[in-house]
Amino acid sequence: MEFETLPGFREFYPEACSRRNHIFNLWRKTARAFNFLEYDAPVLEPLELYIEKSGEEIVGQLFNFEDRGGRAVALRPEMTPSLARLIGAKANSLKRPVKWFNIGEHYRYERPQKGRLRAFYQFNVDIFGESGVGADAELVALLVQALQSFGLNEADFKVRLSDRDLWWLMLAAEGLDEAGSAAVLAVIDKLERMEREKAVEKLAENLGDDAEAFLQRIETVTQIRDFEGLKQFILDLPLEGDLLDRAQARLSDWSELLALLESAGAGAYVQIDLGIVRGLAYYTGFVFEAFEATGEGRALAGGGRYDALVKKLGGPEMPAVGFAMGDVTLADLLDSKGLTAGYAQRPDFIAIIGGPEERRAAMADASVLRSMGYQVEYPLKNQGFGKQFKEANQKGARFALVYGEAELASGQVKVRDMASGEERDLPREHIASMAADILASGLS
Ligand code: HAM
Repeated sequence: MEFETLPGFREFYPEACSRRNHIFNLWRKTARAFNFLEYDAPVLEPLELYIEKSGEEIVGQLFNFEDRGGRAVALRPEMTPSLARLIGAKANSLKRPVKWFNIGEHYRYERPQKGRLRAFYQFNVDIFGESGVGADAELVALLVQALQSFGLNEADFKVRLSDRDLWWLMLAAEGLDEAGSAAVLAVIDKLERMEREKAVEKLAENLGDDAEAFLQRIETVTQIRDFEGLKQFILDLPLEGDLLDRAQARLSDWSELLALLESAGAGAYVQIDLGIVRGLAYYTGFVFEAFEATGEGRALAGGGRYDALVKKLGGPEMPAVGFAMGDVTLADLLDSKGLTAGYAQRPDFIAIIGGPEERRAAMADASVLRSMGYQVEYPLKNQGFGKQFKEANQKGARFALVYGEAELASGQVKVRDMASGEERDLPREHIASMAADILASGLS
């Protein structure tokens, strides 16, 4: 073919489209179960919206260009900055907490590889206007339920839970200032994918000779998996005064969050893992990522608190927490577990037409049934009965409506149950009113 798709962009033939829509349907169903409202925002945004707000990593992956009006623009790599702007602009009139979701395509110029494309869909779910851990718990519970709705269970995926507030406290205890802490967190974010030597080198930029010992302390922290261990570790830090008070308050937030998640039935899925710090620039408190339970593969979803972003974009103070789940890694996981939904579109009725004379009667009935919402296949050209029945089988039609010369002469149509082969002649004028019964209970 002369014109190929761009690398990392997908075409969706009907079968792939139906698999994609199955994912969208379950995302939407879960969001509605938690009473979130759906919103949308532009696909093309001012480039500036992402500079600084999203952080270096995403800015390096932007699809950006100058439009014909000389504006610097970018295809959206994520939804969060647009959403924060929407919320900021209407903050005073929105009833809090604001609970919104979106399903939409996003674009990042990454190297296409397993689990990573250049155009992918995300399910974004966010809460604004609530700073308590109730909102964090609601979102982690929603994330777990969304993945469960596909038939996945605790043997298939885990949510790794971490906390940038605790990291700030730990780094303050190490004597790092804000800029130093931010630089060190960026290294911690990449630790799993970085050579150890390289990590020490990077850390030395802020920690000098202490980098090696520091990395060892970090490795201890990131191996903690239970709350008791975490609590002990934090309370053993050389914290005093305000820092100690903050650490104690934070541990009590942790304890409340974990208790809520346990009650929501999400306890078995949640794993404490301070190795997660999130690459995006705007996160402030609890952060989390969902992964395949084996730990292999790229993240299924990621998110956390970002209490400062709405204000940074010109809005008022507005606490916020949310996450996004991608369709690419999710579809891969569903495939590997045999949970991919089959291609299941089949007509309720198919018209089988004797000849040109019968075509109009069939069209009239099909049109009434279609306007009632039934799925009706109507042949576009004349063919023999045998060929038409063969096609009816191939299309998986449930009932055939046979328009032959004899039936029509007496105002009837022959209805055939394609599964059992059973047939009945029915008055054409009753087909519309009988359609629901026929589909529910067959012809007997
Ligand atoms: P993120 O971690 O950059 O977070 O992306 C969330 C999810 O989107 C990832 O876990 C992954 O499933 C999917 N994803 C990201 N990039 C790609 C890609 N190139 N190809 C395929 N899938 C991808 C955010 O985007 C935040 N804005 C989430 C958020 C919402 N935080 C608060 N609210």
